[in-house]
Amino acid sequence: MWRTPFFFVTVFLLAVLSLVIAQSRGDYPTSSAVVTQKSWRPLFTVPATADHGRNMLANIDDPMAVDPQVSCPGYKAGNVQRNANGFTATLTLAGKACNVYGTDIQSLNLSIEHQAKDRLHVEIIPTVLDASNISQFILSPHLVDAPEVDHSGWHGSDLVIDWGNEPSFYFTVSRASTQDTLFSTKGSKLVFENQFLEFKSPLPENYNLYGLGEAIHGLRLGNNLTRTIYAADVGDPIDRYYEVDGSNGKLTPFSGNSPDRLKSYTSISHGVYLRNAHGQEVLLRPEGITWRTIGGSIDLYFYAGPSQVEVTKSFQLTATGLPAMQQYWTFGFHQCRWGYRNWSEVENVVLNYEKFGIPLEAIWIDIDYMELYRDFTVDHVAFPADVGRSFLQRLHDGGRYLVPIIDSAIYSPNPENASDAYDVYTRGEAQGVFMTNPDGSLYVGAVWPGYTVFPDWLSKNAAQWWVDSITAWHKEIPFDGIWIDMNEVSSFCIGSCGSKNLTLNPVHPPFVLPGEPGNIPYDYPEGFSVTNATEAASASAASSSQAAAATSPAAASSTTVSYYRPEVTLGARDTNYPPYVINNVQDGHDLASHAVSPNATHADGTQEYDVHNLFGHLILNATYHGLTSVFPEKRPFIIGRSTFVGSGKWAGHWGGDNFSKWAYMFFSIPQALSFSLFGIPMFGVDTCGFSGNADEELCNRWMQLSAFFTFYRNHNVIGTIPQEAYVWASVAKAAKDAMYIRFQLLPYIYTLMYQAHTTGSTVMRALAWEFPDDPSLASADRQFLLGASIMVTPVLSQGATTVDGVFPGAGDGTVWYDWYTGALVEATAGQNMTIDAPLGHIPIYIRGGSVLPLQEPAMTTTQARKNPWGILAALGSDGKAIGSLYVDDGESVVPDTMLWVEASASNSTLSASAQGQFRDTNVLANITILGVLPEVTKVSLNGVDLPNDWAYDGSSKALEIKGLDKAMAGGAWSQDWVLTWG
Ligand code: GLC
Repeated sequence: MWRTPFFFVTVFLLAVLSLVIAQSRGDYPTSSAVVTQKSWRPLFTVPATADHGRNMLANIDDPMAVDPQVSCPGYKAGNVQRNANGFTATLTLAGKACNVYGTDIQSLNLSIEHQAKDRLHVEIIPTVLDASNISQFILSPHLVDAPEVDHSGWHGSDLVIDWGNEPSFYFTVSRASTQDTLFSTKGSKLVFENQFLEFKSPLPENYNLYGLGEAIHGLRLGNNLTRTIYAADVGDPIDRYYEVDGSNGKLTPFSGNSPDRLKSYTSISHGVYLRNAHGQEVLLRPEGITWRTIGGSIDLYFYAGPSQVEVTKSFQLTATGLPAMQQYWTFGFHQCRWGYRNWSEVENVVLNYEKFGIPLEAIWIDIDYMELYRDFTVDHVAFPADVGRSFLQRLHDGGRYLVPIIDSAIYSPNPENASDAYDVYTRGEAQGVFMTNPDGSLYVGAVWPGYTVFPDWLSKNAAQWWVDSITAWHKEIPFDGIWIDMNEVSSFCIGSCGSKNLTLNPVHPPFVLPGEPGNIPYDYPEGFSVTNATEAASASAASSSQAAAATSPAAASSTTVSYYRPEVTLGARDTNYPPYVINNVQDGHDLASHAVSPNATHADGTQEYDVHNLFGHLILNATYHGLTSVFPEKRPFIIGRSTFVGSGKWAGHWGGDNFSKWAYMFFSIPQALSFSLFGIPMFGVDTCGFSGNADEELCNRWMQLSAFFTFYRNHNVIGTIPQEAYVWASVAKAAKDAMYIRFQLLPYIYTLMYQAHTTGSTVMRALAWEFPDDPSLASADRQFLLGASIMVTPVLSQGATTVDGVFPGAGDGTVWYDWYTGALVEATAGQNMTIDAPLGHIPIYIRGGSVLPLQEPAMTTTQARKNPWGILAALGSDGKAIGSLYVDDGESVVPDTMLWVEASASNSTLSASAQGQFRDTNVLANITILGVLPEVTKVSLNGVDLPNDWAYDGSSKALEIKGLDKAMAGGAWSQDWVLTWG
């Protein structure tokens, strides 16, 4: 029966990404002239046509597409063998092969296994796995972890599997305790071909479904969406379903967000994970879900939950691996931009942050620093070695850090120019670490430096070659972390376009870079014409004249568009043009467009087709090893653009190339929350927006919002106006104010990250996860929580001075306090309250029942860690509160010592008790207790009265105690203590 009131499917696949620069969508004019952005810039420009593949209709949009459910026979199960944990069977094609999008596989092996108490595994693979069975690629656990099996105790499992053969083979997974069907292929046919798999299940009406890889979309995916999963280098494309009102950046209301609160509502959640790395798409429709992949196997895991918390933890503990613990400094503020042209520009940014008193932790350098955009090099003309050395010394002495970009493609030198030799390439080529063409010659695509080759992470020497390159390069540039880019993996032309053109190298990409003549960015955020009318008018005039000057493409000779329709060749695979056309975001849907082509070949014969979605994952793994080689004792800090299931154990992620638009600021919230589900808690986006110019109002709001994300970085494309926090006075002030709160909360954020790292819990949380029994929160993604205790209600639209927000749990015993006033919020159940939020103010609330460790802010985290502690206890309606704190040296992979502090309040006492050997001698400067009633007349610490150093505010009901440093001279956590008031 389909009556699950809250059907929570977290389907974790991959985090694919994005770029804007190299869009093949025509947003960037084609470069025709010689470009001389730097004096050495190349003379030849890759023709724009080189990046245009075939024009195909995506299957989901093709009226002529064959429905496999109509034409395929399905399977019949036989030879059923029971075993201790499930059963196996053979599935045989139940009729004439349909061969719709590949060659039907006659015989399949089915295995159903109760792998753990909360997990059921359904696996379907071809019976014969060799070349004769048309090369079905089965994902090896060496590439993507396979969940570990723990059969003990599964007999208590709530998951029940049922199967049948009428009208054809099906399986049904249901939940025993509620009798709910979670997933059932009954009534549909299983389609298993060498280049196409399909299985489907009905879902309950208005199902709540989340996850399914990286998308610029609301958190709840809705029932009118196709999620196509193919790693793509394209500027964050907004999925349909949201309509963005361009005039003011407001988003139309979410559908399915029912304001009714059903009192009897109980949330039940489960997770479904398809361990398959092929290009695929998931069709979410009102009646249910259809899953289609263009290869691989059915390797499905059902997680019983029954809450989001349990699903997410179990998924991370068994499938992804627990996320990497980050160094303490990585939670500071990071400044980046494409277009810092030399060391003195970079240093000036650092000095400006200092001058304006805005904390800055790390400065990032983009491809500008490289010599001819080649990895592991430095352009010594613009970035001289001696200037760099002394600047980096000053940077490090000031307690700050450097993070450079490293791109995924490797320049392939011009064979006719001896001075073009490039050691990184030479060493790699000698060790056979690059992808090849099917004929064994090197596969040569094009990226920033010109024609390039691509590391083959499946080759035996690639990882070590990468580690060696990182290690050697660190001797030249003492970096502290690594930013991995273009790892979808991107290539700016179809196929091995450079194979015959290497003598032209270095060449310019097939489009005009932002800032080059013809592509000056004149775009501003929505509402700029209201706030800056004169500037907006002149930008718009300049933009029109730039557009008029651009050569217009030849008018199409005919209005009929013709589409290429790939066909099935029985018994063979066409990896470049698979018969089923996924809705790949690139123009024409060609898989080779703007990416390494699917027929590129790996050392073991694997085709890129089968592992394209894993390039990002594997380069992050290799980079992790690179950093452990440089800093054997320290936690590697890596931020990568393309990720896959499990990448969180090595790296964090930034949301790729967004735009300086209000809509993107909003989308950063659901994007972050989805990455919490994927086990990649270190997440942030390009604050103030990447493409296009930012403006003061947007940057003001965004610098405040991102201050509550785990990874906090401002980044900007080349050629636009600057957007560092000090550029506008109001932004500097807003950023400082929000950073002040972030810094106070750093010990809390670090503790949350430690908990995520050790238990699979989340750091940034959706309201629904903490308040699962409130159905009105199923789509809530304009507010979020940091851990369980801090709620952020940001302004997300231009011109607004108020924001509407809910206070979940109000009416059910949850109380909230205003961060700024400490006063209790007068909220009623389910009420969307209008909150004052003038520019420069971000509403933050503390959940009653929380004890938060605080530390006094500073300009860097290193200084802040030497500052006095504070405690903020926000009492629940029952007068109780609890909280914890994790402290260690902030950098070691395996810290020798640590400190774990538990604090709790009840019956007018607050006590803290620490365990562990880590020595922290910072004093406890103050304690604030919110929600204290009745009026306080006496406060004591460890039984000794504190006569003077406290104050009770009768109107806010806050009790503030100062001067504790004397009472606890050895440090806040050097002894257990009890504070009592009455
Ligand atoms: C890609 C990255 C972007 C970077 C640019 C230049 O677009 O996503 O962050 O600035 O390349 O390296």
